[in-house]
Amino acid sequence: MKVPIAFGLLCLFISLFPPFTSPTILFQGFNWASSENAGWYNSLKNTIPDLAKVGITHVWLPPPSHSAADQGYLPGRLYDLNASKYGTQEELKSLIAALREKGIKVIADIVLNHRSAEKRDERGILCIFEGGTSDARLDWGPSFICRDDTEFSDGTGNLDTGDSWGEVPDIDHLNPQVQRELSEWMNWLKTEIGFVGWRFDMVRGYAPNITKIYMEQTSPEFAVGEKWDRQEFAVGEDGKPNANQDYHRGLLVNWVEAAGGSVTAFDFTTKGILQAAVEGELWRLKDSNGKPPGLIGIKPESAVTFIDNHDTWSQKLWPFPEDKIMLGYVYILTHPGIPTIFYDHLFIKRELMAPISNVTAIRNRHGINSRSVVNILAAEADLYMSRIDEKIIMKIGPKTDLGNLLPSDYQVAYSGQDFAVWEKK
Ligand SMILES: *[C@@H]1O[C@H](CO)[C@@H](O)[C@H](O)[C@H]1NC(C)=O
Ligand SMILES: *[C@@H]1O[C@H](CO)[C@@H](O)[C@H](O)[C@H]1NC(C)=O
Ligand SMILES: *[C@@H]1O[C@H](CO)[C@@H](O)[C@H](O)[C@H]1NC(C)=O
Repeated sequence: MKVPIAFGLLCLFISLFPPFTSPTILFQGFNWASSENAGWYNSLKNTIPDLAKVGITHVWLPPPSHSAADQGYLPGRLYDLNASKYGTQEELKSLIAALREKGIKVIADIVLNHRSAEKRDERGILCIFEGGTSDARLDWGPSFICRDDTEFSDGTGNLDTGDSWGEVPDIDHLNPQVQRELSEWMNWLKTEIGFVGWRFDMVRGYAPNITKIYMEQTSPEFAVGEKWDRQEFAVGEDGKPNANQDYHRGLLVNWVEAAGGSVTAFDFTTKGILQAAVEGELWRLKDSNGKPPGLIGIKPESAVTFIDNHDTWSQKLWPFPEDKIMLGYVYILTHPGIPTIFYDHLFIKRELMAPISNVTAIRNRHGINSRSVVNILAAEADLYMSRIDEKIIMKIGPKTDLGNLLPSDYQVAYSGQDFAVWEKK
């Protein structure tokens, strides 16, 4: 009897304290205009009751450091969190503590590829960095810049291992001092400020083995990379995405594996296919193996799904069709991967709050998670329908005649314009 009892206890323990600390639902707590709003950290506190109600488990905040650009994506004095347009270090810590009280954890937006310098050197080139501390931490010079970033470099750094960002210098991440000091800074963000993990900005900027180093040296509870392969999302002469995006999602898989396997990736493949599919082409949502066509169809445990973010929506770089946003959420909130809800979709388009919370509640009630199994029942122009984990069935699309696709032991859990979610009776 001993073995079954021990096994039973182990199962009980695992169900009470799941070994996964990854988000159930991630929330992007800002948009491109948030830095214009004096005191963003303070104003976000007002959203906490709603976030808790919606079932958000993790919030992604904007880059926290001093930056040459208001939004935070040209960071300079990394340890200086008081010069951020979003608020001061104390206000940030207070926001994080208030979220923690509701059981919500916070991840930081980490911009490593490039860094804005503080001063010009004797040649007049803007390449002298300051860390924002009273000691010399992160006080770098031109030898820390990739030597092929010719505008800023004096030629002693290593060659860049990825894409370059034009406005400010690209940092040489093969330099062990860079790796050590940036890891130390990230660990400070954990212990001193209260972040539990990372959203890595522009990971195309350096080799995936560099991300692996920062993952190993900072052990985040959770991390996601922005690997946005824009050119590789194949589009035909008609301007529409090709039906097969296996190459695009394959790049995400390769990156996750080369970065060590514990980091996840934003599922840009699913976003691109989904936003074309909801325009009367729902057949796109099934790949040649009968599975979802995005990263969630081949490596769902590594996928973070989303509809829009501070780039794609706020700057109109690849926006989801505005009148179909809820259909997008019905898909990502019922499917595997870790779904992300964008700030604007709860607090600017407030009419989406009730439907999003209803579908999120269904996800949580049935334990749908990043590894859930999808069984596609229909993928036609005007109907996509699938069963997830033998627990729920969902459909999006205007077609109302479902034939005999819906088993009689399922009942409507929530429905709206052109969508429905059913659960087992
Ligand atoms: C920012 O403000 C906090 C609290 O007021 C202070 O402890 C910290 O040293 C300041 N940081 C910098 C870089 O000035
Ligand atoms: C990481 O990859 C880069 C280029 O892709 C290579 O130059 C470098 O040696 C690798 N570093 C490690 C630690 O494997
Ligand atoms: C579900 O939606 C209805 C309106 O359709 C709303 O009244 C209700 O508050 C929502 N439930 C949740 C849990 O948000």
